[in-house]
Amino acid sequence: MGEHLKIPPEKIPQHVAIIMDGNGRWALSRGLPRLAGHRAGTENLRRIIRASVEFGVKYLTIYAFSTENWGRPPEEVKGLMHIFEDVIDRELAELHKEGVQLRHIGRLERLAPKLHKKVLDAVELTKDNDRLVLNVAFNYGGRDEIVYAIQRIVESGIPAEDVNAELVSQYLFTAGVPDPDLVIRTSGELRISNFLIWQTAYSEWYITPTYWPDFNKEEFRRALEDYARRDRRFGGVSAAVDNKVHAS
Ligand code: FPP
Repeated sequence: MGEHLKIPPEKIPQHVAIIMDGNGRWALSRGLPRLAGHRAGTENLRRIIRASVEFGVKYLTIYAFSTENWGRPPEEVKGLMHIFEDVIDRELAELHKEGVQLRHIGRLERLAPKLHKKVLDAVELTKDNDRLVLNVAFNYGGRDEIVYAIQRIVESGIPAEDVNAELVSQYLFTAGVPDPDLVIRTSGELRISNFLIWQTAYSEWYITPTYWPDFNKEEFRRALEDYARRDRRFGGVSAAVDNKVHAS
């Protein structure tokens, strides 16, 4: 099987969001420490970012560290912080050259000042790039995002009758980003895990048993092809059924 996409451009999901799960189990199955799994996951992320550019995906959102991940052993938390910093140091120039716009979703406040600044600088440097928008969810939680949006809506003194779904979307970290068309979750878990709980109301899901470090370009291509065959109805009926109804 070749790695080239066999789907028309209009069937390529504009926004793909990924829960990169299974790094720990990948490492355990090889007798390695969990952080080795996160490092392998980081290497895989490089491949999937490049494949996204190649396949014409416009927005890629990755779940790198959740608000609940602070509860992991301190050395793992420290390791994940270090990986994030390292990714920025080592990859930023190349990503910038490739036209990737880096954005952050979540709370930066709790991160170490040095990492906080690095993220802001990376966002600033790449803000005019438009080949791929890469949203990194780091210290991100869906409920936290909604609570924070409500707080800011209330603070702005917006009257209750003016609050609607569109307004709430504008107050989320993802303001201006279209909702994900496709969410991929690796390692076979059947959970949303507080990821983009507002934005994924009508997203399609692709769940695979593959651990994240092994989720390669070939399987990414299969996920996009699978998505292209879906009939998205957004709570309505399919276009084929609708045409029949109108013709009768
Ligand atoms: C879930 O696997 C993975 C994470 C919590 C971290 C994901 C991070 C990376 C892939 C590194 C890239 C990071 C950045 C900052 C760009 P798990 O550890 O929960 O796996 P398990 O369920 O098998 O234990």
